Amino acid sequence: MSHVDSILQLIGNTPLVEVGSTLSPNPDVRILVKLEGQNPGGSVKDRIALAMIEAAEKEGVLVPGSTPAPVLLEPSSGNTGIGMAMVARVKGYHLKVVLPANVSAERRTLLEVWGAEIIDSPASEGSNGAVRVAREIAALHPEYVFLYQYANPANPKAHYDGTGPEIWRDCPEVTHFVAGLGTSGTLLGVGRYLKERNPAVEVWAVEPPAGEMVDGLRSLDDGYIPPIFIENNGHELLDRKTIISPRESIEWTRRLTDVGIFSGISTGAALAGAARCASSLDQGVIVVVSADGGWKYLSTGAWTDDINVVAERARHMIYF
Ligand SMILES: Cc1ncc(COP(=O)(O)O)c(C=O)c1O
Repeated sequence: MSHVDSILQLIGNTPLVEVGSTLSPNPDVRILVKLEGQNPGGSVKDRIALAMIEAAEKEGVLVPGSTPAPVLLEPSSGNTGIGMAMVARVKGYHLKVVLPANVSAERRTLLEVWGAEIIDSPASEGSNGAVRVAREIAALHPEYVFLYQYANPANPKAHYDGTGPEIWRDCPEVTHFVAGLGTSGTLLGVGRYLKERNPAVEVWAVEPPAGEMVDGLRSLDDGYIPPIFIENNGHELLDRKTIISPRESIEWTRRLTDVGIFSGISTGAALAGAARCASSLDQGVIVVVSADGGWKYLSTGAWTDDINVVAERARHMIYF
């Protein structure tokens, strides 16, 4: 490949890195990490941002080049907003993002870099609050294009069409797939694709404890089950769910630097889940998703401050 015509063509086809020899608690279980932070907007969410916007274009809901620029509205604690802001900027749309007031400073600034407009939702309500406020605004403004990642079939489809086939192509010996659960799009799309290829593949969801925050992840016991999860029979597709605390997530985010991976905090959670999975097996090959890189989390002190202080802070701050 000598060049591409648009940065958007660089979304997807992320690398898979073997880390098991250093990080697996079981020498007979391999662990491979898929580095979604290598996407141009810096996270796995570039995939669904592009897929949802292009699906809306196909349906005629969004018309490229129309004036005034069409307005998109989305609740996001960060990565989806950033991915959509990048795609919207390149394609000439205006994006309004509803963002909990307590996300890390870098996320807010990145949204501003891409020219998105930020609407604050209450910090105390976390990502559920952003969803609530966005839905209220969408009801008042039917002229806004509300793609809504939690209910948009293009979200799991992006992973069924892209992330899943890439994992199967690069690691057909996979026995377990482990990823954090936010909207559940990654788990649903990749899980369905892999199980269609090999029904024995197990899909493990990583969730924070109910009522606690782990960057980008949500507990299904917290009162909101994404419509895509229900429509795609998530309860049948997932084999296991494993609960990882904010402290474990930070510990594993730090351990990942031992293999040269500088990741976001949800990757630490996913690795902690993979390690738990590895300990429970005789042998196997686990593929884990690293949703993003560490850059957006530097201001949180996650690598540099006392672990007890960071773990306590993590209870009040959304790290994704
Ligand atoms: C950092 C991070 N990790 C994990 C996830 C979970 O991905 P999904 O929404 O596909 O379940 C998200 C998305 O919310 C995220 O931003």
